[in-house]
Amino acid sequence: DKGAYPYYMLKEIDEQPAVMRRIVGQYFDQAGNPQVDEAILDALAKADHLYIIGAGTSYHAGLVGARMIEKYAHIPTTVHISSEFAYDHPMLSEHPFFLFLSQSGETADSRQVLVEVNENHWPSLTMTNVDKSTLSREATYTMLLHAGPEIAVASTKAYTAQIAVEAVLAKALGQFLKHPEADEFDLRSQLGMVANGMQAITDSKDDIEEIASRFLSKTRNAFYIGRAIDWSVSIEAALKLKEISYVQAEGFASGELKHGTIALIEDGTPVIGIITQDKTAGLTRSNLEETVARGANAITIVSRHLAQETDTIIIPDVDDNLTPLLSVVPAQLLAYYTSLGKGYDVDKPRNLAKSVTVM
Ligand code: M6R
Repeated sequence: DKGAYPYYMLKEIDEQPAVMRRIVGQYFDQAGNPQVDEAILDALAKADHLYIIGAGTSYHAGLVGARMIEKYAHIPTTVHISSEFAYDHPMLSEHPFFLFLSQSGETADSRQVLVEVNENHWPSLTMTNVDKSTLSREATYTMLLHAGPEIAVASTKAYTAQIAVEAVLAKALGQFLKHPEADEFDLRSQLGMVANGMQAITDSKDDIEEIASRFLSKTRNAFYIGRAIDWSVSIEAALKLKEISYVQAEGFASGELKHGTIALIEDGTPVIGIITQDKTAGLTRSNLEETVARGANAITIVSRHLAQETDTIIIPDVDDNLTPLLSVVPAQLLAYYTSLGKGYDVDKPRNLAKSVTVM
């Protein structure tokens, strides 16, 4: 039931702080240690490569999670689009482990990969929001997202829940493998800060609605740009905008603009820069300026410690690996209000189904 909300999507965006707190409640003990089934950690500890498999938003969540697995557990990790991997996968390592990300647990493209994984008796883990879904039943292990039912076709709280649960896995596995940096990653308190930060962003809806109406309501195309982890969020942000507002939106690695894409910039083209990392902030800003020099309307989503006076949307500071949990929220809201402003059915965009059970 969507209660007083006009659309499930807005309700689900607003639920994200509560989902973060629920994940903390489900996956941490009193002392702040992550709780993950030891059989999962044991199996992962034996792997020499982790293959993360997903489609759409789940694939995007994998791109963010892979960095934490590598950083805290030191296991080489690559992320793959399931519909590609099923027909064209890279040479696999000797001891592969497969992590399936799927909100619904029913995506046919991902299941196709799992069938091959099982034929080869490779170990697998499905992270899903739906208990007893096909992908969780057929994988060796399963972990629940605890995001609560997600009804809107555009995935929001499942994306942030996937990243948070991947972070739990990365920390738990890193500690299991005795990597000191995993001990130092105070994930429980970080997720608390994330929840508060999400709340602060969703409390500023009116400002974001105004930005959507000023910059996105009439445009036919838009670009999200960023580098590294901010690029991973850019492609998720662009997917949100295209699937519900039908704006042709793309997420680009900002350094790639000058290698071709900048030719598309015209007077008034919205270019949204995501800037959350010290290492890349200056570079993304200068790429953004290059687009402004060619007529673009720049919009920025920036972490507080990097913010400048001219920035558009300022988000609270959190751990560098967790910034997607906050930077995505304004993008979800920009997509929502653009679609709403155009009078579209936000929850049921044309041509799309919530769960894609065909290949
Ligand atoms: O249920 P799944 O996570 O496996 O679904 C994967 C995609 O179909 C899904 O994320 C889709 O891209 C969403 N509509 C994006 O908002």
